[in-house]
Amino acid sequence: MRTTLWAVLAVLASSAGWAAPLSAAPAERGDTVRVLVLYHSDTGHTRALAEAVAEGARSVPGAHVVLKPVQEAGNADLETCDALLIGTPTFWGSVATPVKEFIDGQRPFMGDKVGGAFATGGSDGGGKELAVLAVLTAMLNNGMIVAGPHYEDEGFRFGGFGVAATTGKDDPGVDEAELERGRVLGERVTRVAMRYR
Ligand SMILES: Cc1cc2nc3c(=O)[nH]c(=O)nc-3n(C[C@H](O)[C@H](O)[C@H](O)COP(=O)(O)O)c2cc1C
Repeated sequence: MRTTLWAVLAVLASSAGWAAPLSAAPAERGDTVRVLVLYHSDTGHTRALAEAVAEGARSVPGAHVVLKPVQEAGNADLETCDALLIGTPTFWGSVATPVKEFIDGQRPFMGDKVGGAFATGGSDGGGKELAVLAVLTAMLNNGMIVAGPHYEDEGFRFGGFGVAATTGKDDPGVDEAELERGRVLGERVTRVAMRYR
């Protein structure tokens, strides 16, 4: 009934030449699932992973994906998205300062939106997964529903709580397997957001 009402309103709106304001709640816009991928990156590794996450999100038909540095995100981006993915370099076993500043800043309540997280870090055992968990913890505290990637390997199915790529000299850069995990994360979070809507 509500869906029908919104469909009628959408037709009236388009014929009257106006559209739902950007700040309207996602369910009221009558459009696609909006996915926001935010990241911080000083030397490019987290940006590369973020691009893979965005690529995975875009692979879901009907997804509208915005990729931007966390410093460029405003309240309008947050209010209008249905899913939010945040990527960070690992700094001393946790999130990088710009990501922490973003999380701690005055932001709209994100309740009922779907979240995911990813991180890069120089070394194994350096805390990448703790950085992912720090982001997910903040999302949960902000009322969000969090999701990780799902994998299948020779019939064995398993999940993860995010994606963490090693970039230091033992395993330099973000390799193809890590990029693929990023794509899987972006796709899964987008599909969960779509089903939830
Ligand atoms: C201040 C600082 C602290 C860091 N601390 C860690 C750490 O605790 N664990 C780790 O694995 N890597 C650490 N690193 C390495 C970065 O996480 C790693 O190089 C990352 O991939 C950089 O991402 P970017 O290229 O997107 O900037 C640190 C780097 C900096 C600059």
